[in-house]
Amino acid sequence: TRPLIIDTDPGIDDAAAITLLVDEPDVDIKLVASVSGNVGIGHTTDNALKLLTFLGRRIPVARGAAAPLMRENRFATEAHGKSGMGSFEFPEPDRGLLTEGSAVLEERRVLMESEEPVTILTLGPLTNIALLLATFPEVRERIDRIVMMGGSTGRGNIGVYGEFNISVDPEAAKMVFRSGLPMTMVGLDIGRKAHLVASDLDALDAAGEVGTMVSSLFRSYDGGHIEEGIKMYDPSAALALIEPDLFTMREAFADVEISSPLTMGATVVDYDGILSENKNMDICVDVNVDGFRRHFVDRISRVRRR
Ligand code: BDR
Ligand code: CA
Repeated sequence: TRPLIIDTDPGIDDAAAITLLVDEPDVDIKLVASVSGNVGIGHTTDNALKLLTFLGRRIPVARGAAAPLMRENRFATEAHGKSGMGSFEFPEPDRGLLTEGSAVLEERRVLMESEEPVTILTLGPLTNIALLLATFPEVRERIDRIVMMGGSTGRGNIGVYGEFNISVDPEAAKMVFRSGLPMTMVGLDIGRKAHLVASDLDALDAAGEVGTMVSSLFRSYDGGHIEEGIKMYDPSAALALIEPDLFTMREAFADVEISSPLTMGATVVDYDGILSENKNMDICVDVNVDGFRRHFVDRISRVRRR
C-alpha cells in the first residue's frame, strides 16, 4: 500500500474523490489537509471533518493555508454552494480528528515518519504544497509523486485559459511545477470529459447511505445542471492514482503564467520541446469515459459507513 496525503478544498468533487479512496487497499490515507479554495478555510476544514465523521474513518485532518501566497481569496460558491458541501446533511464533525499542527507541519511529519515514499494528491490550490517545499526542503526526497487536479491543456474555467486550482494561487502553482519533483497533471479537460450522467446518480442512490451522500452533493453541483453531464475533476485525479489504465499519459514541460493579466494562471503545456525545457510532468491527455463511470459508481457503491 502507498502512503498518501490528500491536500484538498472540499468542495463537492473533492468529497467524492476522498470517498473513492478511503477503502482502496492500494493506498493508505495518512492525512487530509485542508486549504482555502472553493470556500474559506473554516468551511473546507469543517467539510473534511464532516465527511470523515460521516464515513467513520479516523483519518487526521490538518488545517491549511487561509489565503493564497500573494493574492486575495477567490471562492467557487456558484459551483459548490455557500458552505462548499451544503446540499447533504452531515452529522456534526468530530473535532477530535483535527490535528494540533497546521497542514504544512503535519504534512512534514507524515513525510518524515513514513518508511516509504509518500504520494501527495492535490485537489485544490497548491498553497500548502508550495509552503511545505519552501519551508522544509528535506521532505523532497520523501515524496514519491505529486498527483494534481489542476490546470488545463485547453480552455479554462476561471479565465479563458485559467483553471481554478491554479489561477487562485498561480505563484504557489509555479513553485510546485518548478520543484523538479515527479508530477502528474490531471487537468480540466480530463474532468470535463470524464462525466457522470443522471442514471449514474440514480445508481448511487440505490447503493445506500454513502452513494446517496455523493449523489445528493452532485445533484446541486455547478447549479444542478445534471442533464449536461456532471464534470468529474477531482475524482479523475483520484482514479488516476488507482486505475491508471483508464488514462492516457504524455510527458511534457508544463509551467504557469503569472504575469499576464490576459492569461493569468494558464498552464502552458509543451509536449514537443518548443521551449527547450526539460520535461517535468506526466500530463493526462485522455480518459476512458465508460470505464471511469463504471469504476466511480462501483467503488463508491461499495463504501460503507463505519
Ligand atoms: C477544480 O476547482 C474546484 O472547484 C474543483 O473542486 C476542482 O478541484 C476544478 O477547476
Ligand atoms: Ca477541489
